[in-house]
Amino acid sequence: MNKTVLAGLMMVAAMGVQADEEMQAAAGQQVFAQRCHACHSEDTSKNTFGPSLTGVVGRKAASLPRFAYSDAMKASGLTWTEDNLRLWVTDNEKLVPGTRMRHVAITDKAEQDYLISFLKTLK
Ligand code: HEC
Repeated sequence: MNKTVLAGLMMVAAMGVQADEEMQAAAGQQVFAQRCHACHSEDTSKNTFGPSLTGVVGRKAASLPRFAYSDAMKASGLTWTEDNLRLWVTDNEKLVPGTRMRHVAITDKAEQDYLISFLKTLK
């Protein structure tokens, strides 16, 4: 295979991956709209019933100013890595006993993937 063909194939593959991520994020937006949006705004300037989730991936738990976190969340010492976000949406009360967030149980791995792809777009 010559180099031009190879480069072309690699580009198509890269575009495929990107389209895939966009589709996942779009699916995640649906999950978010149904399961999270009632309490969480996508707008960074807004804490609603729950804290803003803009930039949440990689953020330290309970780190937003002007949001009244529970003592449990403040003491959790967590960082919202993808793994911790998975545990959180699987069973938030198990991860942080005493949290003020109502119990959620998103146990479907694909649904979690979509949701996390979407949360990553909130910058
Ligand atoms: C019934 C309202 C409600 C729903 C629904 C809800 N949350 Fe929350 N969420 C909260 C509250 C309140 C807190 C603060 C919890 C605390 O301080 O203990 C919170 C905290 C969080 C945090 C920690 C943020 C930080 O700054 O440390 C994350 C992450 C989060 N929620 C994600 C989600 C996701 C993802 C969903 C949807 C699957 C969701 N939440 C659904 C109310 C809600």
